[in-house]
This record gives sequence, structure tokens and C-alpha cells, in this order.
Amino acid sequence: MTVDAIRTIGVLGAGTMGNGIAHVFARSGYNVILRDVETRFLDRAMDTIGGNLDREVKKGKIDESDKPKILGRIHATIEMSAMARADFAVEAVPERLDLKLAVLQEADKLLRPEVLLASNTSSISVTSLAAATTRPDRFIGMHFMNPVPVMVLIEVIRALQTSDETFHTTMTLCERIEKKPVAVNDAPGFISNRVLMPMINEAAFSVMEGVATAEAVDAIMKLGMNHPMGPLELADFIGLDVCVNILDVLYTGFGDSKYRACPLLRKMVAAGWLGRKSGRGFFKYATH
Ligand SMILES: NC(=O)c1ccc[n+]([C@@H]2O[C@H](COP(=O)([O-])OP(=O)(O)OC[C@H]3O[C@@H](n4cnc5c(N)ncnc54)[C@H](O)[C@@H]3O)[C@@H](O)[C@H]2O)c1
Repeated sequence: MTVDAIRTIGVLGAGTMGNGIAHVFARSGYNVILRDVETRFLDRAMDTIGGNLDREVKKGKIDESDKPKILGRIHATIEMSAMARADFAVEAVPERLDLKLAVLQEADKLLRPEVLLASNTSSISVTSLAAATTRPDRFIGMHFMNPVPVMVLIEVIRALQTSDETFHTTMTLCERIEKKPVAVNDAPGFISNRVLMPMINEAAFSVMEGVATAEAVDAIMKLGMNHPMGPLELADFIGLDVCVNILDVLYTGFGDSKYRACPLLRKMVAAGWLGRKSGRGFFKYATH
């Protein structure tokens, strides 16, 4: 499949990442088939996209008249069979291996043979996901960053089986949606989480050991290292449960104790202090 032949993008999952992925493809002129399991998830996704487009109108990033055109390009559906029309597909269902395998295998049966299939997984081996499909050479990782309409990076992950053609088409497609793709090979945590999570973990160990408060750790990294957000505020934003899961992937994937999740992180997750989404993590947040 050449990049010029790609007109319609299938997006599996309309959650935090899926709605953002649909948004950026539709904004760049692609038709999008956005699939989730229940209508209420699709309604919520379309509301979010509408709100985010309003923000882009206010910022002057898009014209007011573009909004209905962009929304009009997104076809929200609960019918998996609609994927048969996609020229490229991106999977963004929750980070559970069993669920991803089921959704990818279902999509694999419906997509035309030449269509490329990408996963937005943040920690599962892209090589093992590729192996579960009948198109391992046409499978690739496309790790979008949250919030998708704002963040320019896409970490493009080559599975062991990914062909050069699949890789080049995907890199060009990323550029067509005004993103900056950066290529890495498949390995636990890819690059983003392999580098980020040990920093977050070390910050949590420092708090647990009483070396500094969470406020102090974040202030040092912001003021001293010019990070826009401290590691603990970022951990709260990502979700402490998600951080622990990714650390566990690194720990088991490399078999190296340096990736052992900080016991304080585990304890906070056990308490339900998951970060911003639960109203409390290293910091407190207003809940609505
Ligand atoms: N949230 C982030 O910051 C972030 C960043 C990068 C990558 N990711 C990855 O993106 C993926 C999605 O994460 P998310 O945060 O958007 O999750 P989410 O829970 O917000 O959304 C997932 C959506 O998938 C839907 N879904 C479940 N089963 C489905 C099926 N069979 N078919 C279609 N849709 C189905 C759910 O109903 C839900 O709406 C995960 O692999 C995650 O690791 C997340």
C-alpha cells in the first residue's frame, strides 16, 4: 500500500488516545472510521473532539469553518465490519494483551491484505502483536503521545517482522498529519518509557526515603533541568497505576532489578491514589 493510496483510516478504540488519533487524521483531510464497543463511548469521543477543535479555533490553529468539515470526516461506529473500508488502521484499545490480541485478530480478518495495521501500545511487544496477525510484515507500532492533537512526537516502533516498505509508508504518513516520527526498534518500553519511567521511579524512591518532598523533587527538575513538568506531576498525569504497569514490563522484559517499581508507587496504587484521574497522587487535584 503506497502512502498516496491511503484515504481512510480505521481507529480501534475511541478513548483518550483513539479520539485524539481520529482528530489528527481528520484534521489533515483523512476520512476516519472510529470504532468502539458502545455508542456512549463514541458520543463522548465526538464531544471531546468537538471541544478540542473549538480550542484550536480559538488559538487560530484552524478556521471556524474547518470544524464541521473535520467532524464530518469522522464516521463513529460500533460495527467492526466497517473496518473493511480502511486503507490503514490504528489500534488504541486498553493496554491488556488479551484484549489487544482479540481486537487485532478480528481487525486482521476484515482489513484488505495490503492494508497496514499499527498499534498504539505503550509497553506491549510490537513483535508479539505482529506475530498474532496474518500480516506481521505489515504491522508496526505507532506510539502517539497524550494529548495527541498537541504533542508532535510519534515514536514509530519496528517489530522484528516489519518490512522496510511498511516502515517508510508509516513514517511518511506521520509527516502527512504534521507529526514528527522518530524510529526505534522493538524493545521493552521502547525509548520513551525506558528513559522516562526510571526517572519517575527514582523520584518516587527519593520521596519514600525522605530525601525530599514531592514538591522539592519536582521544583529541582523544573528549575534546574528546565523540565516543563516535574517527574511526579507527570507521573500523576500519566496515572500511577500505568507507571507501575510499565515498570513491571521493563522489570520482566529485561530481567533487571534496576527497573523494580518503587514500593511507595505500589502502595499509592493500592490506596487508590492513582494521580490526577482519582483526585490524588503525589499531589491533590480538584475532582468533578
Ligand atoms: N493515555 C495515554 O497517555 C497513552 C499514551 C500513549 C499510549 N497509550 C496507549 O494507547 C492505548 C489506549 O489507551 P487509552 O488511554 O486511550 O485508553 P482508554 O481506556 O481511554 O480508551 C480505550 C477505548 O477502547 C475501547 N475498547 C475496548 N474494547 C474495544 C474493542 N474491542 N474495540 C474497540 N474499542 C474497544 C474502550 O471502550 C475505550 O473507549 C493503550 O494501549 C495505551 O497504553 C496511552
